[in-house]
Amino acid sequence: MRTEFRNESFVNFKDERNNAEYDRVLEQTEAGLGKAYPLIIGGERIMTETKAASINPANKAQVVGIVSQADVQYAEQAIQAAAAAFETWKRTDPSERARYLFRAAAILRRRRHEFSALMTIEAGKTRVEADVETAEAIDFLEFYGREMQRLSQPQPLTVSQEEENELYYLPLGVGVIIPPWNFPLAIMAGMTMAAVVAGNTVVLKPASPTPVIAAKFMALLEEVGLPAGVVNFVPGPGGEVGDYLVDHPLTRFVSFTGSRDVGLRINERAAKTQPGQKWIKRVVAEMGGKDAIIVDQDADLDLAVDAITLSAFGFSGQKCSACSRVIVHEKVYDTVLERVAERASRLTIGAPSAAGTDVGPVIDEKAYLKIQEYIEIGKQEGRLVLGGGTGDPNGFFIEPTIFADVDPNARISREEIFGPVVAFTKAQSFDEALAFANNTDYGLTGAVISRSGANLEKARREFFVGNLYFNRKCTGALVGTHPFGGFNMSGTDSKAGGRDYLLLFTQAKLVAERF
Ligand code: SER
Repeated sequence: MRTEFRNESFVNFKDERNNAEYDRVLEQTEAGLGKAYPLIIGGERIMTETKAASINPANKAQVVGIVSQADVQYAEQAIQAAAAAFETWKRTDPSERARYLFRAAAILRRRRHEFSALMTIEAGKTRVEADVETAEAIDFLEFYGREMQRLSQPQPLTVSQEEENELYYLPLGVGVIIPPWNFPLAIMAGMTMAAVVAGNTVVLKPASPTPVIAAKFMALLEEVGLPAGVVNFVPGPGGEVGDYLVDHPLTRFVSFTGSRDVGLRINERAAKTQPGQKWIKRVVAEMGGKDAIIVDQDADLDLAVDAITLSAFGFSGQKCSACSRVIVHEKVYDTVLERVAERASRLTIGAPSAAGTDVGPVIDEKAYLKIQEYIEIGKQEGRLVLGGGTGDPNGFFIEPTIFADVDPNARISREEIFGPVVAFTKAQSFDEALAFANNTDYGLTGAVISRSGANLEKARREFFVGNLYFNRKCTGALVGTHPFGGFNMSGTDSKAGGRDYLLLFTQAKLVAERF
């Protein structure tokens, strides 16, 4: 039996030796960029004619990798390979399945900076953000491995005098995994391996901006000996390949993390029964957020300023958990606004590969343009207090941006921007602040900074989000400690890194025997 699960600790980058080691691995990683990456279907590596370049968002001229692109024929092959592998993988002992995850975690731990450095280059993560993510990937593997061991034990049932009763958690079948680019290692690996450890086989379509980190994870799965066909790797355009995979009659479930629009599209398509399909497809979707931090009149303002700055501008606000609305009691509104603006103005924007950088680029041109459009909308809807501009034109840099005096019904108060843009709104009372916070279609994360026990109790009852944090930032959920996922348009109410997560990829069979 494995030891009890514990969260992986983070590397301390205040120690110069760790920085020097990271710089060395970054340099080594840069020297190896630009390789060609194949599809991997049933263990076979396939270089296709059509390829897409993955580029460094901090330096558009730098090609991270040239990635083979699947089309519908390859998508079909991948589904067939997964269906064939399912016949043996579903019968593989759950403890054996779990051991592949533990092996992968052990290697990730040993080669931690290698994976983080690639995220710095391909996703634009600072070393601190990248390292936290690699730790999260290790956590998912360790946690879900143990969870499968737990679920494969005899399950508690009411004892019957006449019968022997047992309940088994069976896998579902072939799954389609469509992960996001913003946690290109941790969420990608977590989604994939949760399904796999439960006995399913999958087709993994990595996010288009971050396929190389996913390819590196595929190499790790090969290294630990995961049987061919259990995870099939098909980078490709979402419209063509994604739709084909979702629609396929052999697809049993779809696990998706990404935007609300794509999540809803997948949900609708998956709901349509195809000829020959024998089941109702299950969709697990983790979508967006419009997450608010409430600052109460008696709040510890130092804490509030830190929590807001980290939650709003960490990884340029490109987290579904990021704070994009700050709702402040009128008594402290001006002070909080001024202090956050001052604090954020001191953030260093620049190359994420540099040790002192706080804010790197946004992921790609599409995001860069969309965020700028929202900044223009913000100028109509609020008072620009900080930022609003762009940075080094060699990359997709956007300054941390703060708008003040924004109406709770304004577009920048309600629509997900997914960038370093935050809207401040003044509330006359704590009750009004709560009402403003709940004034959204989403319900992912939220935080309250307050010293009032009564107000915290009220928020505990009434702030309608899946992850509610008091007197801390609203990002950085830890596997096992903060099972993660939200309400309403934030998704299908799943909790990644929680004890009910693997159940989403299983079906329970009860056997009653009378002797
Ligand atoms: N789990 C991440 C966080 O909590 C977001 O996906 O920040």
